[in-house]
Amino acid sequence: MATACMLLLTWLTYQLLSGYLHSWKELKPIPGIGVPYPLLGNALQFKSNAGDFFCQLVGYTKEFQNSSLLKVWIGPIPFLVLYHAETVETVLNNPVHMDKAYAYKFLHPWLGTGLLTSTGDKWRRRRKLLTPTFHFSILTEFLEVMNEQAEVLIEKLEKQVGKGPFNCFNYITLCALDIICETAMGKKIYAQSNYDSEYVRSVYRMSDIITKRQRMPWYWPDIVYNYFGEGREHDRSLKILHSFTESVINERAEYISYIESDSESDQGMKKRRAFLDMLLKAQDEDGNKLTNRDIQEEVDTFMFEGHDTTAAAMNWAVHLLGSHPDVQRKVHQELFEVFGESERPVNTEDLKKLRYLECVIKEALRLFPSVPFFARSICEDTHIGGYKVPKGTNAIIIPYALHRDPRYFADPEEFRPERFLPENSAGRHPYSYIPFSAGLRNCIGQRFALMEEKVILASILRYFDIKACQKREELRPVGELVLRPEQGIWITLQRRQR
Ligand code: HEM
Repeated sequence: MATACMLLLTWLTYQLLSGYLHSWKELKPIPGIGVPYPLLGNALQFKSNAGDFFCQLVGYTKEFQNSSLLKVWIGPIPFLVLYHAETVETVLNNPVHMDKAYAYKFLHPWLGTGLLTSTGDKWRRRRKLLTPTFHFSILTEFLEVMNEQAEVLIEKLEKQVGKGPFNCFNYITLCALDIICETAMGKKIYAQSNYDSEYVRSVYRMSDIITKRQRMPWYWPDIVYNYFGEGREHDRSLKILHSFTESVINERAEYISYIESDSESDQGMKKRRAFLDMLLKAQDEDGNKLTNRDIQEEVDTFMFEGHDTTAAAMNWAVHLLGSHPDVQRKVHQELFEVFGESERPVNTEDLKKLRYLECVIKEALRLFPSVPFFARSICEDTHIGGYKVPKGTNAIIIPYALHRDPRYFADPEEFRPERFLPENSAGRHPYSYIPFSAGLRNCIGQRFALMEEKVILASILRYFDIKACQKREELRPVGELVLRPEQGIWITLQRRQR
């Protein structure tokens, strides 16, 4: 028995080492940073603070601007860093490289293998099942929720008028949270009124814990992480996150079965539709329904991907509008043309007319993409940017750096929404701007996100003039799972003269 174990262990070690040495040799020609140590790679060179690490990564992309790509080793795993439209296209345009990179494994305890993290057949089946839940007609129903929550936000912001600088980050985040809770789970949680949300705090804590672990390969084995790392805190946050969504799912499932069993209540008490209702009812071609576990992973994924990303995007846009009075004036003008003096809610026709605001949102997402990087696994030997890349290598795509390529965006640090007018975007490389990723695994919620951003930003700007109180250099974007300003977004508000 002992001999068999020894043989197995030797064989496994041989397999791992030979794969590692093979990648090391094959990837040698690709330019890399510093001198990687065997097994630890470049991990010791990385800054431990998330903000510093992100600056460091972006710094490397600038240093290697003239190279088509660069390589870093995180522990024994090689990552290609991609920041040019041409190399990003090679990866995202090829359905073979659809699997997520190794580092997504650390999201699994929280999000399971839901749409964001799953691979292969499971992903294909889920994507097919979930795509109809983002249909235009359902999004139109959600517009009502967005308008209602925008109204609450305006009431809250109203109290800050004329009071000097304040940090609007939480106000906007809680509004986004209220919207996603009601649209994804059909649950009103009144986050905007209940100022301190344990769930929101746990989302941030969890993002921080996960990205830290991703950068520190010595914490990858669970046993080391649980004894020497932040394993316990990870589990505490996980419990809060899961018990919140679990209780909402159970409540909604009970409600649905009650409605279905009682035709009278259907008339009087019918609630708005939510993504969760569609998940509870969804069936594949063979009539198979999703299990409770399946539903929980999708709800956790929507809750995470669906509020933190939009909240960050709206906050960055508020800062940019507040520091560019000329752009803000144009948005005010457009809003006046669409709404005049009226205080009515935003409808779908209005959304189509708010073209300049859409350019503002897109340009804000160019400079500050809510998802600052994401990664794929290279699933077969391939050539990227003129280099041979073996199967099993990971690729990190960095929209934050990609969106600053001066070949496609002249004076890339300048905030110029006009770049996205149709006449100015014609002919631009389709992979030079990918805030929602691209290819088969693009963001399923992008229309929802743009709709929410338009409704909330239009509502804020119909009532207020925004002035930013921070300079760009003071914002310090922290690239964890979502790109956030380290110290929040500080602004002053004035009521608009009508
Ligand atoms: C400004 C807001 C948003 C941005 C910038 C954004 C960006 C992205 C990006 C870059 C990806 C690819 C991630 C990766 O490959 O690892 C993605 C995937 C995804 N997003 Fe979004 N997202 C936003 C809003 C939303 C919303 C509102 C929802 C849901 C209500 C959502 C749900 C998802 C899901 C489920 C995926 C995984 C899709 C798949 O792999 O099939 N996102 N998003």
